[in-house]
Amino acid sequence: MSDTSNPLDDPTADPFAVAAEAAADIARLTGVERHDIALTLGSGWGRAAELVGETTATIPASEVAGFSAPALEGHVGSLRSILTPRGKRVLVIGARTHYYEGHGVRRVVHSVRTAAATGAKTMVLTNGAGGIRPSWKPGTPVLISDHINLTGDSPLEGATFIDLTDLYSMRLRDLARTIDPSLDEGVYCQFRGPQYETPAEVQMAKIIGGHIVGMSTALEAIAARQAGMEILGFSLITNMAAGIQTTPLSHKEVIEAGQLAEPVISSLLARVIGAM
Ligand code: HPA
Repeated sequence: MSDTSNPLDDPTADPFAVAAEAAADIARLTGVERHDIALTLGSGWGRAAELVGETTATIPASEVAGFSAPALEGHVGSLRSILTPRGKRVLVIGARTHYYEGHGVRRVVHSVRTAAATGAKTMVLTNGAGGIRPSWKPGTPVLISDHINLTGDSPLEGATFIDLTDLYSMRLRDLARTIDPSLDEGVYCQFRGPQYETPAEVQMAKIIGGHIVGMSTALEAIAARQAGMEILGFSLITNMAAGIQTTPLSHKEVIEAGQLAEPVISSLLARVIGAM
């Protein structure tokens, strides 16, 4: 797959068949038949891959079915296969498709479905996000305990009734806390974006039980649950959410907070994955 069309843009395509094709592409290009764990790296988490283990293959996502994008969109990132010291195979997804890009939810969750099709039983989702709790300073990593999906959309098609109790595995959250007992946790609210929230929207998120605001992860977690995977979610608080901090939000600030926190959170994530 190196042309510029994407099979997922064909509404008659079966997204699970495209994911199976993508998994076959990954097996062929990495030489690794099955992966055990998949890891999506959000802003701030990029260096974790280097610490998880030995990279045995790096492939451009554009070579994998369903990840290809029209040339104008530019870079679609890379996929890496990593071997951990304990012999686990980790598929690292270097770039996610965000819902706000407007390519539809099938494209958003394709990496998760592909990961499941490679055999991965565990999905680790990371992101950069705004914090509602004032005690969470920029640079704080928090576990996702649950989510509120405010996109109004779903990766599930048709009458697909799926239980989301314990969506973010208690077992894996407990495992993460054996590595860092100080880890806090909270409810992640996925907004559509790409604009940051208004202070009133942040207050709404707080009132309905949210602690973290962001533009990813919830739709991916639903798809991962549908695929039968166990899910661990991590947010890096890159900023206090709008109105919690009194200064305006900027993308630059978000990126800088991610860069500053990267060494610490990357090593945390690598140790958690190492313990799986
Ligand atoms: N809101 C939504 N998404 C984000 C934020 C935020 O405050 N910070 C980083 N990603």
